[in-house]
Amino acid sequence: MEKNSKKTFYITTPIYYVNDVPHIGHAYTTIIADTLARFKKLCGNEVFFLTGTDEHGQKIEKSAAEKGLSPIELADRVVMRFKNLWQSLNISYDNFIRTTAPRHEAGVQKIFQKLQEKGDIYKGTYSGYYCVSCENFLSDDVPLEEGGYKICADCEKQAGEVAEECYFFKLSSNQEKLLDFYSKNPEFVRPKTRMNEVTSFVKQGLKDLSITRTTVKWGVKVPGDPKHTIYVWFDALHNYLTGIGYDWDMELFNKFWPADVHLVGKDILRFHAIFWPAFLMAAGFPLPETVYGHGWWMKDGTKISKSRGNVLDPDIILETFGSDPLRYFLLREVPIGLDGNFSHEGFLHRVNSDLANDLGNLVQRTLTMIVNYFNGRIPDPDEEKEADKKLREDFQDIKKRAYQHYEEYNLNRALEEIWVYINTVNKYLADNEPWLMAKDEHKRGALARVLFQAASALRAITTLIFPVMPESSEKIWSYLGEKSALTQIDFNSLKFEDYQPVNLIQKPAPLFPRVDLKEFLKEESGKKETGQKEKKMSEVTYEEFRKMDFRVGKILEAEKVEGTKKLIKMKIDIGEEVRQMISGIADTYSPEDLIEKKVVVIINLKPASFGGSVRKLCCWLL
Ligand code: MSP
Repeated sequence: MEKNSKKTFYITTPIYYVNDVPHIGHAYTTIIADTLARFKKLCGNEVFFLTGTDEHGQKIEKSAAEKGLSPIELADRVVMRFKNLWQSLNISYDNFIRTTAPRHEAGVQKIFQKLQEKGDIYKGTYSGYYCVSCENFLSDDVPLEEGGYKICADCEKQAGEVAEECYFFKLSSNQEKLLDFYSKNPEFVRPKTRMNEVTSFVKQGLKDLSITRTTVKWGVKVPGDPKHTIYVWFDALHNYLTGIGYDWDMELFNKFWPADVHLVGKDILRFHAIFWPAFLMAAGFPLPETVYGHGWWMKDGTKISKSRGNVLDPDIILETFGSDPLRYFLLREVPIGLDGNFSHEGFLHRVNSDLANDLGNLVQRTLTMIVNYFNGRIPDPDEEKEADKKLREDFQDIKKRAYQHYEEYNLNRALEEIWVYINTVNKYLADNEPWLMAKDEHKRGALARVLFQAASALRAITTLIFPVMPESSEKIWSYLGEKSALTQIDFNSLKFEDYQPVNLIQKPAPLFPRVDLKEFLKEESGKKETGQKEKKMSEVTYEEFRKMDFRVGKILEAEKVEGTKKLIKMKIDIGEEVRQMISGIADTYSPEDLIEKKVVVIINLKPASFGGSVRKLCCWLL
């Protein structure tokens, strides 16, 4: 569907709950979205990529209380963790929406009021069973257990009974409209298999939906009736409108809405494929093109999630490998509609074979030979031979197929095809043996021809893999001596022949070092143990405690220490002087959040090796 004369593409991820720190599962959805956003940009679309956090509701309220924090304090901390992870993973989002942002809250209230005025929302009393973990009402047919609770089928946790006055949304009156919409828009839910799941659910009959709570305080208030808090899913789903300008930049909103694709895990498909279009229809908004429900990453056969206690911390992998190997693995290993099992063995196998061996070797030997044999600049190559022509023509073919797969979100198939081509180029080099040609003075032209072909192929491959592996692609791009940014390339008009022999090639640094499984597992468990030890702090004596000089200070300035992940440098007014101090808190706070905050400081802590007058800071924010 063309929204206006310009080709726009609006893609979203779910907004993540802030009771949990980000894990591989969250990273997966966001990496898929980032890859599609980058691909669409390369194809000349104007792209808007939205992600963010879902910060209201009972679950966050409860989690914060357990940690002795206010909900917003917990949210602020976890938001930093998400933002840092997205930065480490090279996620190129255009807006990060927080449901606690005033303009989001105002937008939700406005829509609530509109539906109320239209008669789609009415007041009544709800009684039923509520799963706090999924923030979901259980259907009547779920059996009651002996203890007076029900078991949620999604998370297998207990759901208690609630009975309270609330506002209802007339979901029931949307049943036929939804079924009609699905039949006219079979692409609305993808992959196709999931559409059946959704339609049969709707056909069973839809009951009106309770969309406010009086026992939950942490949320958006119902306009004119503030003892009611808007149900977290009604609040959260509207982020897709408020994140793109609804009610604060209608020009932006009209340019990008409706969304092209809401990417979600299959666990939350129903909310997106049933509630969401019903809310939108009632309020008179056009409906999104597609809701894509992807599969889960599992560990030893169980979904990776905090509640199941099997989360994998992406930071440990990122520290050793950087972002591209993880991005590549998650997208290459399984089709996005299916579940995948994460294992370190599987991960390392892919990294070592596909990245270090296939791609890494191609980059290394092609570029190193050009530097060694021609000082980095390929002279006039000989005329093209049959095998060269085939390499060139094969590329156009692969490009077409990769394009099709990217378009259809078959990312694993796109990578599979590209890797076939990478290995075709490796074979071309093995067949031509340029390292032997280099020994023969009479074969300079032939050597130039072969290396020129290989460099041309490499440049073309780099563009194809860019959406998945932006960091490595940009490195290869610059080794190839390209002047313009890779992001300026137009995927559709890209040709093998675009490579210029005038470029000055640089010797590449190894892109994907080989890692031994045993060593990696040893290192990983070491890191985990250190983390655990840190939690079990040793005791201090009273004498030691007495030596510490505590003061209350005020943070005047704060900035991130360049080249580090966690360090923030601060100027703190401690009364008699202003001290410069450093603390490893960048994963919890951003520098701008710290300004003017009061902290307890130990001012006689021995200076650490940060140089100059900067001391390591031991502080607690007040
Ligand atoms: N806040 C709601 C979404 C509201 S959207 C309007 C929510 N948040 S969540 O933090 O639980 O994140 C859920 C999403 O994280 C899933 O839909 C999925 O995209 C991703 N994943 C979480 N665990 C996952 C796996 N183990 N595997 C793959 N993706 C998973 O639900």
